[in-house]
Amino acid sequence: MGQESIVQSPESKVGLSNGPPILVLATRNPGKIVEISELLAGLDVRIRSLADYPDIGEIVEDGRTFAENAVKKATTVALETGELALADDSGLEVQALGGRPGILSNRYAPTPRERNERLLQELQDVEMALRTARFVCVAALADRQGHAVARTGFCEGRIALAPAGEAGFGYDPIFLLPDLGVTMAQLTCEEKNRISHRGKAFCAIREVLEHVLAEHGGLIPMP
Ligand code: IMP
Repeated sequence: MGQESIVQSPESKVGLSNGPPILVLATRNPGKIVEISELLAGLDVRIRSLADYPDIGEIVEDGRTFAENAVKKATTVALETGELALADDSGLEVQALGGRPGILSNRYAPTPRERNERLLQELQDVEMALRTARFVCVAALADRQGHAVARTGFCEGRIALAPAGEAGFGYDPIFLLPDLGVTMAQLTCEEKNRISHRGKAFCAIREVLEHVLAEHGGLIPMP
C-alpha cells in the first residue's frame, strides 16, 4: 500500500507524531479497548483505537480460523495507518458439536441469550462428562510493513446444564469451570482475566510487543 493512502491519526495531522510509538487497537468496542489497555499497561506506547481513525471502514471477518481473522484485522489496520496494530478474534468451541460455534460464535443466534439457549438445546442429551468446551482467543500484532505475529490463549471448561451468574458477557453464564465449581459469569473481572483465553493471549503478545519495541524499532523481524 502506498504512503499516500495511509490514514492519518489526529496527532499526525497536527504534527504531534514524535514520541512513543503509536499502537492502534483494531476495534471500536469501548469495553475491549479498556480491557486490552489494562493488559498493556506500563508499555511505552501511545494506545489508539479505530475510534481515532474514522476513515477506516468495517473489516470483514471472513477467515476460516480465529488466527486468519485476527491477522487480517491487524495487518489491514497497520497498513492503513502506518502504525503498529493489535487485533484479536475469539470464540467458543464445543467438542460434542465438532468445534461449533467456533468462528461463528458471534453469529450463532441473534442475541447472546438466544445463543446460550441454542447451545443448551443442542446439548440436551449430552451427559456432563462429554460437555467439554474451550474458549479460544488469538491476539495478532502487525507492523507497518504488514508483517504479523499471533499468539493463542485457551480456557478449558464444560457447558453447564443451565445458565448461572450475571458477570461477564456472551457465553460466560453457561461456561462451567469444573475446578472452581462456578461459571465464568460468577467470577469477578480480575478473576476472569487471570484464567481467561483473552488474558493468556494478550499476556503472550505483550511479550512479543516488548521485544519488538526494544530490539527492532517497531518492526517485526522476519523469521
Ligand atoms: P469477538 O472476538 O469479539 O468477535 O467475539 C466472538 C464471540 O465469542 C462473541 O459472540 C462472544 O460472545 C464470544 N466470546 C468471546 N470471548 C468470550 C468470553 O470471554 N466470554 C463469553 N463469550 C465470549
